[in-house]
Amino acid sequence: MDGLGLRNVSSHCSISDMDDYDLSRLLDKPKLNIERQRSFDERSLSELSIGLSRGGLDNFESSYSPGGRSGLDTPASSARNSFEPHPMVAEAWEALRRSLVYFRRQPVGTIAAYDHASEEVLNYDQVFVRDFVPSALAFLMNGEPEIVKNFLLKTLQLQGWEKRIDRFKLGEGAMPASFKVLHDPTRKTDTIVADFGESAIGRVAPVDSGFWWIILLRAYTKSTGDLSLAETSECQKGMRLILALCLSEGFDTFPTLLCADGCSMIDRRMGIYGYPIEIQALFFMALRCALAMLKHDAEGKEFVERIVKRLHALSYHMRSYFWLDFQQLNDIYRYKTEEYSHTAVNKFNVIPDSIPDWVFEFMPTRGGYFIGNVSPARMDFRWFALGNCVAILSSLATPEQSMAIMDLIESRWEELVGEMPLKIAYPAIESHDWRIVTGCDPKNTRWSYHNGGSWPVLLWLLTAACIKTGRPQIARRAIELAESRLLKDSWPEYYDGKLGRYIGKQARKHQTWSIAGYLVAKMMLEDPSHLGMISLEEDKQMKPVIRRSSSWTC
Ligand code: GLC
Repeated sequence: MDGLGLRNVSSHCSISDMDDYDLSRLLDKPKLNIERQRSFDERSLSELSIGLSRGGLDNFESSYSPGGRSGLDTPASSARNSFEPHPMVAEAWEALRRSLVYFRRQPVGTIAAYDHASEEVLNYDQVFVRDFVPSALAFLMNGEPEIVKNFLLKTLQLQGWEKRIDRFKLGEGAMPASFKVLHDPTRKTDTIVADFGESAIGRVAPVDSGFWWIILLRAYTKSTGDLSLAETSECQKGMRLILALCLSEGFDTFPTLLCADGCSMIDRRMGIYGYPIEIQALFFMALRCALAMLKHDAEGKEFVERIVKRLHALSYHMRSYFWLDFQQLNDIYRYKTEEYSHTAVNKFNVIPDSIPDWVFEFMPTRGGYFIGNVSPARMDFRWFALGNCVAILSSLATPEQSMAIMDLIESRWEELVGEMPLKIAYPAIESHDWRIVTGCDPKNTRWSYHNGGSWPVLLWLLTAACIKTGRPQIARRAIELAESRLLKDSWPEYYDGKLGRYIGKQARKHQTWSIAGYLVAKMMLEDPSHLGMISLEEDKQMKPVIRRSSSWTC
């Protein structure tokens, strides 16, 4: 361990690293193009779906980096990113290590916030599944996979618990939102309590936890090359149980997943009920990750088939109906209503008058994004950062859509990034709408917390999306903003205000995922080959959707 808290990892570069990152091809290209042409992630979905059963690593992932770092220094990256650690990096590592939570002397996670000054601890002294993801990625990138493995196994055990809210039993596959380790110093025993939504404010089950768990299992496998964990019958069963929850048939007419408000990072009423983009993007990504890891045995095979079908339907639905750009907006603006039958253009009977004024101003001529929600007569036009970044990383967004999302971030920088990356949602809901939508939530007043607050943790997702789309300069700009404040302000959970200039009204300090998110962003920018553990390449078999405007008028 050196002074930075970084473990010294070898600059080992295996043959398999090269598959992922074709150096010779890159070097032929003019330098300017290099950034756009890079592809750091993996093979197509159809190739991945061959799965583990047919022969391990070769089929699963073409690249892994023993020790967590590929050590591949392309001239392009070393010239631009000569890595002189920012003084904040060492501080961040120290803070991240302070947040470690141990169970029987083994590290199993990181505490949500280490804020002694805060009068109310609430549940910030727990290990949250979603909050642990950036911590896990930081440890994987630093060549410390053990804690990630411990976490995956511990949460898998918790999944096996019987979960009840009052007299109602939750689905078997549900993963906890968070857990807490209780140390008994006299008896010298450790016990765990977990929260599956039965203690959470609002009593909502975290739909995102299971998806993050699958995504993390793949990141671990990809980063370590250790297939044995994902191959265990326990992990295979854990995945199947999660999938059984979201692939079951019911009354749904859409391939998207119907959710209650508060079921994800935005874990209280914010009008995201229905088909929130955050969950749909994570759902898509988890399905693709599971497809790569599920064995094609008697039990796994059926799931593989269901996943393949769902992915096709889901990508079609999302790319057609959630996508909004200037052209789409203009089409919706001119929609006819009350259409019946298969020939309907306005399938969900969206009334053009329900389009909010702000979106006409906000929409640039070049650029686009996946809107927040689509259901009968309701389009939530708000921008949500997490869903859009995950859409890029999972290749739910086509390459053109991914570029358009980055174009939008660039041209609406002040609105979406301002002085602190990154707004969780845009715009904020105010006055009457705020009353109706949030139920008068004083924590979610305009431009605060989930209602248009700025969350430093999102920096890692933005950075990953920037690298994937070949636009690291955007990430660099955002990281610079974070570096000007985060440490000085003691790593707040979120910032308030239209520009994100003020430390959030009720924000915790020393929030672990703000710390880990910064580290992950820095490490990815320094060694972009890390991106592979959290990114999936486009599946060439999933045909891009023909634009609604052209297909529907013919
Ligand atoms: C808040 C956030 C949630 C996070 C938790 C722990 O409840 O809304 O997303 O997981 O704090 O940090």
